Formats: sequence, structure tokens, C-alpha cells
Amino acid sequence: MAQVISVASGKGGVGKSVVSANLALVLAQKGKQVVLVDLDVGGADAHVLVGLLNPPRTLTDFLNHRIEQLDDLAHPLPIHPNLRIIPHRIEQLDDLAHPLPIHPNLRIIPGTGDTLATANMAYSQKKRLIRNFQDIHADVIVVDIGAGASYHTLDFFLMADHHVAVATPDPTSVLDLYRFIKLAAIRRVLSMFVIQDVLAEGLANRDYSSVEEVLDVAGKTDESGRTIAETTLRAFQPALILNRVSGRARVNVLQLKKLLKEYVGGNLTLLGEIPDDPAMEQAVRAYVPVVQHAPTSPAATALLKTGETLLQLLTAPPAQAA
Ligand SMILES: Nc1ncnc2c1ncn2[C@@H]1O[C@H](COP(=O)(O)OP(=O)(O)OP(=O)(O)O)[C@@H](O)[C@H]1O
Ligand SMILES: [Mg+2]
Repeated sequence: MAQVISVASGKGGVGKSVVSANLALVLAQKGKQVVLVDLDVGGADAHVLVGLLNPPRTLTDFLNHRIEQLDDLAHPLPIHPNLRIIPHRIEQLDDLAHPLPIHPNLRIIPGTGDTLATANMAYSQKKRLIRNFQDIHADVIVVDIGAGASYHTLDFFLMADHHVAVATPDPTSVLDLYRFIKLAAIRRVLSMFVIQDVLAEGLANRDYSSVEEVLDVAGKTDESGRTIAETTLRAFQPALILNRVSGRARVNVLQLKKLLKEYVGGNLTLLGEIPDDPAMEQAVRAYVPVVQHAPTSPAATALLKTGETLLQLLTAPPAQAA
């Protein structure tokens, strides 16, 4: 079964989609069969970043039952005319009757978001969507998730085997990252109680503002409650990608890690740092991931390195929730 990597952020516009698309392509280049899934319901645009400008089918077709299997939505990626600017491809393209995919190992499931109903999908639809991930044929599924901490976003983030959070050094982005990880940790602990049936569902659905509060309630309600909560938290190890890093704008990663450990309980690992680089914006305008559009640019080099680190994480067995 495919390993699922979810990519989220507290704040919008920090580079989740470009990071997801580029990491998906790097993993495909490394020989993995990859599917990039756009679950940013309401703001789907990942398909544009990989040159699929008018997808004939999207997640809306799955949610409306026009298509029953997610895998049937996974589009191979056509070479966009803009790719002609890459010199060694020109001759090949002229010789071809059919366009080549951006990479034969990479497919994309384009997102939805053109109606209010799909952006606010019902609980049963979300369950069906998450369940259907098991039947996608791939080694790795990279999921681009919307910003913020709605229940949908948190559940899509948590369903994965590996959790990646993207932030920029901007203080508001770091604060939103902290909030997002805290809420994800709380939801993860609560869903573990529901699965293990330790706490009544009513109690698990209460509103909590801190992880400590959850631990307290868990400890008071059931003897094993606190232990389960703490074990779940220890196993929650999201990885951080810092994007748009520059000489002036950096983050004290050690301090952030310490803060999260102290107040959230989970361990944050730094997966990579991507520099602020005009090549990234040029690649977005060319509808091609920067690792293909400008492979030697600083952003592409950093994304390649981050992808290689991610690959090592994939070969290690995923952390178990408890
Ligand atoms: N490292 C970078 N250097 C320069 N520009 C960047 C970098 N990363 C992202 N950008 C710019 O930021 C824009 C937004 O990135 P992206 O769409 O990936 O953000 P997002 O987090 O997915 O946003 P949303 O929350 O709206 O889904 C890109 O179109 C690109 O122009
Ligand atoms: Mg996005």
C-alpha cells in the first residue's frame, strides 16, 4: 500500500502547493510511482503547477459519485508547450506524435472547489474520500492540503503516514504553524480515544484549548487515559519545511522545537529549508515545477535535497500512533 505524505500549513500562501508539486516530482524522478492529490478543497490549484491547465475530471466527480475510485481520477501529466524552452527536449517533442508526461512516474488527482457544497463536504463524504486512498495505485501519495485548522484540514493532515508542515520565517506564519500543530496534536489524541473507546465520544468531542487540558481530562476519566494520550503525542512527529528563507529572514528552529515539545508534546524535525528564489515564481508562471524548470536554481537544489531526506523517511517504517 502507498505511503501517504500530507503537506499542510497554518497560514495560507506559504508555498504548500509548490513544495508538494516539487517533492512529488523529485520522488518520481527517484523511481517512486507518485500520485499528487490536491485536497485543498475550495482553493485547488496544484494541477496548474504541473501544467494540467484544464483537467477533464476532478475530485468533484468523485464527491458527486460520477467516479467511484480515486485512482480513476489520477491524470498522467502532459508536457506543456512551455517545456519546449528546456533545450534537450526540443528535438524529442518535434518527433513525437503524442505528448510525453512531465514524468512517467507522476500522476495528479486535481482538486475540487468550484462549489460551496464540495468545499464544505459532509462527514460521510470525507470518510469515503479518506477510505478510498487505500486503493490508489502508487508507492507514494503526496497530499496538498488547504491552509488553516478546520476539522477537514486536520483530518486530511492526520490521515497520512508522514506529516509535513510548511511555514515561512514570517512571525505570523510561525505562530499559525504553532497553532496548527497544537490543534492537530489535540485532534490526534482525541481520535485515538474514540478508536480505543477509552473515553465516551461525547467527552472526546469537547472543546479543548491545550494539549495539557486533554491529558488532564484523559487522566481523570480513565486510568490508562493519560498513558494513551502521552504515547500518541510522542509518536506524533511532524516534519517542518521552512520556505522562502533568506539571509534576513530566518527562524530559530531550536527555539520553535523546544516550544512545541514543551506545550504540544510532539517532536518537530526540520526536513528542509527552501530559499526565497525568483526561479520559483518563474516556474509557477511556466506551469512547470522548479526542479524541472530550473534544476540548478537555489530553490530546486534545496527541494532536491529535501526530497532525498524525505525518501529516507519513507524507507523507515512510519511511526505508529500507539
Ligand atoms: N521559495 C520561494 N521563493 C519565491 N517565491 C515563492 C517561494 N515559494 C513560494 N513562492 C511564491 O508563493 C506563491 C504561493 O505559493 P503556493 O501557491 O505554493 O502557496 P500555498 O501555501 O499553496 O497557498 P494556498 O494557501 O493559497 O494554497 C507561489 O506562486 C510563488 O510565486
Ligand atoms: Mg495551495
